[in-house]
Amino acid sequence: LKINKVAKKTRDFVQKMKETDKSVIFFYGSQTGTAEDYAARLAKEGTQRYNLKTMTADLEDYDMNLLDTLPADHLAVFVLATYGEGEPTDNAVEFWEHLVSGEDVPEFSVGDYEDAEKPLTNLHFVMFGLGNKTYEHYNSVCRRVEEKLCNLGASRIGERGEGDDDGSLEEDFLSWKDDMWKSVCDFMGIDFLAGNSGPRQATYKIQEHTDEEVAELKKVYHGEHQEPKFMLGSRPTYDSKNPYSAPISVSRELFTASADRHCLHMEVDISGSGITYQAGDHVAVWPVNADKEVSKLALVLGLTEKLDTVITVSNTDPASTKLPFPVPTTYRTVLRNYVDITAPPSRAFIGQLTPFAPSEEASKLFALWGQDKEAFRIHVADARRSLATVLEKILGVGQTMEIPFDLLIESVPRLQARYYSISSSAKAHPTSIHLTAVVLDYKPDVAPEETVYGLATNFLHNCHGHINQIGGIVPKYEISGPKGSHLLGERGVKVPVHVRHSNFKLPRNSALPIVMIGPGTGVAPFRGFIQDRAQDVKNGKKVGATVLFFGCRREDEDYLYKDEWPELMKDIEGAKIITAFSRQPGVPKTYVQHRMTEHKELIWDLIHKQGGYLYVCGDARNMAREVNHKLIEIAMTCGEMTEEKATTYVKELRGRGRYEEDVWS
Ligand code: FAD
Ligand code: 2AM
Repeated sequence: LKINKVAKKTRDFVQKMKETDKSVIFFYGSQTGTAEDYAARLAKEGTQRYNLKTMTADLEDYDMNLLDTLPADHLAVFVLATYGEGEPTDNAVEFWEHLVSGEDVPEFSVGDYEDAEKPLTNLHFVMFGLGNKTYEHYNSVCRRVEEKLCNLGASRIGERGEGDDDGSLEEDFLSWKDDMWKSVCDFMGIDFLAGNSGPRQATYKIQEHTDEEVAELKKVYHGEHQEPKFMLGSRPTYDSKNPYSAPISVSRELFTASADRHCLHMEVDISGSGITYQAGDHVAVWPVNADKEVSKLALVLGLTEKLDTVITVSNTDPASTKLPFPVPTTYRTVLRNYVDITAPPSRAFIGQLTPFAPSEEASKLFALWGQDKEAFRIHVADARRSLATVLEKILGVGQTMEIPFDLLIESVPRLQARYYSISSSAKAHPTSIHLTAVVLDYKPDVAPEETVYGLATNFLHNCHGHINQIGGIVPKYEISGPKGSHLLGERGVKVPVHVRHSNFKLPRNSALPIVMIGPGTGVAPFRGFIQDRAQDVKNGKKVGATVLFFGCRREDEDYLYKDEWPELMKDIEGAKIITAFSRQPGVPKTYVQHRMTEHKELIWDLIHKQGGYLYVCGDARNMAREVNHKLIEIAMTCGEMTEEKATTYVKELRGRGRYEEDVWS
């Protein structure tokens, strides 16, 4: 890893810690902002409770080759998310490649060790990982980083924590953190029990601007992200920190004969943006909050009259340079574009609201829901209540409560992008990205009288309504209003997007057969794959058998892209779609796995005998696991293997990259 001297200096976290008198650094590898949020919370708690001198650090902002120069009485805390199939987050890729996936012992900076194999004997660290148990490689990033650091001589000073996003990540985090602080206090020589729980120290300052001041400001942000980064003075690059506002060129409903379920096919125009993609990549969509949600929260907070006041947010600690969103901006923009006000607030945050309660009764409820896990689960987490709804439940509808705005910014996670498997091929559509999204709404089991609307998909549904002039879509988003105007451009409705490249890719050799299993919206990337192969045929390439297993409820209701498949597949030899309808009247409930059994000889021939590739996309929780079992079964029957051998066989297929998953829960 070669980094020039100038860059190295600015990326030197040890130097920065020295200059700003810090002794504990919280590195985060974060994709959706949760790991970053946890790192910030830990850093703040360390300062506030234990008088530690802390700072947070984005892994991609610093030169991790300098880990060996961190003084031995300092501490590094790593908060690392595992993304998808055991991959590091985008901002941790460089660190990961250097430390873990490289072949050799990584080169550190000073090279003055007694034992060349153990360059990190100075390093003391603690680790917390964020993962999701529905994925096979649960928390593998933090586990492997920890192992590698220890192999290189570093000392772990407390137990590694692991959080499960499919269970209760927040609870895992909270229960790990107390023991972690005990270990940290021991290491730092601090009395853990003397931990100070004095008054809250603010992380941010809020300055409200007068009209005269506003007139002097160069720019006020109304939902834009950062200014584009220009690489080598030419084109801007678009990524998770800087999405591209892409015009929606096509938006249509894919479900037929169904008034209450919706699935959108959308095409966003990327011409002129410099964005490239391949079939199998993901597109991230950056939603905004609905006006109704913004107004509801503003009302409880007593901010209704001030929503359009221009504010600047700054850090109270001069050493920290990161702000959660660009400033100056307005209260409305913060609530609408920058923080996730519809996700259930954290238990810790609810507890922190206790002192601000306007009545004793409310104060008791904040304390209870903030402390009692079961009360929190029923009233907040499982009910999927937004902050405004929780406040309304505690205070009563129409009541207000002043919450310091800096506390809200600090405690409410930033609004994050949602990922969609790209449903087009760049070979066929180089200037547009297609996505296929099912619109989410549901009634939580513990609060069946309340409807919860998925944020991004309902935002997209509103964009769809705007483009196609369909009224009556709830909830309402400000798409054409004066202050939401970044969504409405000359070329129509725009949606901020960026592309995340994935390993879910067609075989390099197009002549190899592929078997794709994608019920529901799991079919999305396969539309891209098939377009890709159709294009290869047009270009005179030899293309192998192309078999798609698709499942949905009914042929006449949610059979996605039903009319497109015949045309798309007509020139690909051996291409076919095998359908499974689960709620077709008069037909037994059928899932893709059942069809796999019926077609086991075909699958075995294409995958085993012809060396083909198998792809699964869609639901991680049940479908992908059952498909995995089905494959083992097929290997047992068609390959005459024992269960143990068949299990190893399927594992090895995965290991060789011939059995790929693109799944979500
Ligand atoms: P959110 O506001 O984020 O709400 C979703 C959350 O609500 C869930 O996480 C869950 O906690 C909760 N929830 C959902 N249903 C219930 C319920 N019944 N009871 C209680 N709680 C519930 N989606 C597609 O439609 N098409 C795709 O191609 C696609 N590809 C994806 C690829 C990847 C790699 C990943 C990670 C996800 C993909 N998704 C896809 C899912 C997508 O990213 C979003 O999660 C989904 O669209 C919902 O987003 P939302 O903002 O509307 O809902
Ligand atoms: P169901 O909802 O009728 O049970 C797309 O969502 C399709 O996947 C639907 O037909 C749905 O059926 C089906 N499905 C639900 N659970 C599944 C599972 N475990 N494996 C495969 N398909 C499943």
